Amino acid sequence: MNLSCLRPVAERIFDETRALAFDGVGITRDSYGAGESAAASYLGKLAEAEGLAVRADRAGNLVFSLTETPSDAPVAWVGSHIDSVPRGGNYDGLAGVVAGLLCLLERKRRGSHGSLPIEVVAFRGEESAWFGKAYMGSGALLGKLSEADLLLTHRSTGESLADCMRRCGADVEAIRAQEVLVDTSRIRAYLELHIEQGPVMVARELPVAVVSAIRGNVRHNHVVCAGDAQHSGVVPRWLRRDAMFAVADLVMRLDDHWRSLLERGTDLVVTTGVVATDPAEHSISRIPGKVSFSLEARSKSSDTLEAFYQVIRAECNAIERQRGVQFEFDRRLLSEPATMDRELCAKLARACEATGAAHALLPSGAGHDASLFANAGIPSGMLFVRNANGSHNPHEAMEIGDFMLGVEALANTLERLD
Ligand code: GLV
Ligand code: MN
Ligand code: MN
Repeated sequence: MNLSCLRPVAERIFDETRALAFDGVGITRDSYGAGESAAASYLGKLAEAEGLAVRADRAGNLVFSLTETPSDAPVAWVGSHIDSVPRGGNYDGLAGVVAGLLCLLERKRRGSHGSLPIEVVAFRGEESAWFGKAYMGSGALLGKLSEADLLLTHRSTGESLADCMRRCGADVEAIRAQEVLVDTSRIRAYLELHIEQGPVMVARELPVAVVSAIRGNVRHNHVVCAGDAQHSGVVPRWLRRDAMFAVADLVMRLDDHWRSLLERGTDLVVTTGVVATDPAEHSISRIPGKVSFSLEARSKSSDTLEAFYQVIRAECNAIERQRGVQFEFDRRLLSEPATMDRELCAKLARACEATGAAHALLPSGAGHDASLFANAGIPSGMLFVRNANGSHNPHEAMEIGDFMLGVEALANTLERLD
């Protein structure tokens, strides 16, 4: 299948969405907020102008199709997200939605509905950067958001997730009741194209790749280490209860555990960030009495996540005893790892092969909406497209030629589903 005539359409969409969301440094499309809604309304108008059917689902996500598909007909879903992290790049998420739209446009051009109709879903709220919770749009559809999740607040406006969702047209009462808002039995397959967010494909010169599995994570958005704020000159080391040294000690202990687990072949990445003392009272002459920080561990194995989480808590207990501090944890958040469907992986690999591009099977370190569908029992598969300079920064650099190879592989795979 030759989709090269759609390349200018893709270029135009990426240019126009970039212009809509450029914040002076990078791309900002806040989840269930103004930035994301601007992208949704742009894509909705564009799709309608191209003669596609557009509707919103009960979680406020946008759904595109060739025609109004009868709601009980089997379909293939092609999805990804339209939000971004603050000052992020234009391709994380959006590339997958544009890829799906091009597949629909290609079918429209050929006047073919395929043996399995396609619905393209532009998910809202995938990024945890805004509310401290990932997969909100897809999670809401699958009945996975809790009351506590709905009370989370937007990092800039302070509004609750429930209010923001309602403003975007979501049925918050049904979401709160954890109703499953979509008939999952009709979704024969869930496919997602996404940029690779790490450096592997550039290093291995792979324009496209098939994803084998998606790491899950265990997180705390906000941990507080409380010690004793005192004059920095007068308290000897043995009498200090320094929250900053305690947090640094924790970070170095976790780094040691991480290194030895890696030596044993365990799949694990560990991150801490958002480290802060209170600017209203901090000073170079004051021993920090309170330090807050975030904690995240990711792995392809749920057992590893749980075991490492226990290590974190045990080290915190030890540091509390040794340094006279106290750690207070907010709600623990868990996203389960996921395995992509074997048959779909094989079909995606054959479709990559047919493009003539070098490809490989790679795990995803980043999280994706696909993990929720895979864990809900829907056969799910993902394609990666090469992207330089990593992601969650303004420097993402996907070549349009690589993207079109990915779209071709995606379109070919969709033609082989029934
Ligand atoms: C998604 O962007 C993630 O944080 O993995
Ligand atoms: Mn992301
Ligand atoms: Mn993403």
